[in-house]
Amino acid sequence: KRVAILLSGGGSNMRALVTSMTGEHPARPALVLSNRADAGGIAWAKAQGIATEVVDHRPHGSDRAAFEAEIDARLRPYAIDIICLAGFMRVLTAGFVTPWQGRMINIHPSLLPKYRGLHTHARALEAGDQEAGCTVHEVTAELDEGPILGQARVPVLATDTPDTLAERVLVQEHILYPAVLRRFAQGNRAPLYLP
Ligand code: GRF
Repeated sequence: KRVAILLSGGGSNMRALVTSMTGEHPARPALVLSNRADAGGIAWAKAQGIATEVVDHRPHGSDRAAFEAEIDARLRPYAIDIICLAGFMRVLTAGFVTPWQGRMINIHPSLLPKYRGLHTHARALEAGDQEAGCTVHEVTAELDEGPILGQARVPVLATDTPDTLAERVLVQEHILYPAVLRRFAQGNRAPLYLP
């Protein structure tokens, strides 16, 4: 299976995914695509010899369809089987998502269905939650919806700030996402619950 990873930032999840795809793994990283040329993840992927593409959203303004058509055009030559969203900070609309449904997954830093969207850790702290975590799910046209493929939980500590909580969750993201991708590439969609 040929995997494209879409990101906007540092790409620590992308790195975890890429380094997991060796040996007997049923998938390989075929492309890393970013909407930002300066994303740290792009430099790292290039240094690994992985193909990269940058599709800047800004020239398209509010025309999401045009932005998504450009992403689609860039993906095509790589014959991608699976898309992993890994900190890709642009909302994808039904026009892009629907054709990929069942072949596109995302990691979100909350225990969905809690806290869709942004600022998940601050919201978990405000709510007084005792635990937090991350979710890998299939991408559907609704933001941060779609069948859950895996979750990992962490405790919330009394001293936590959004940053310290994010750090603890991120450690689990790097374990959960590769584990779920491996299963997904084998056609296993049964949810995985860690630890
Ligand atoms: C992660 O917390 C991910 O869950 C969220 O964006 C962040 C991306 O981090 N969607 P990185 O770029 O993978 O380091």
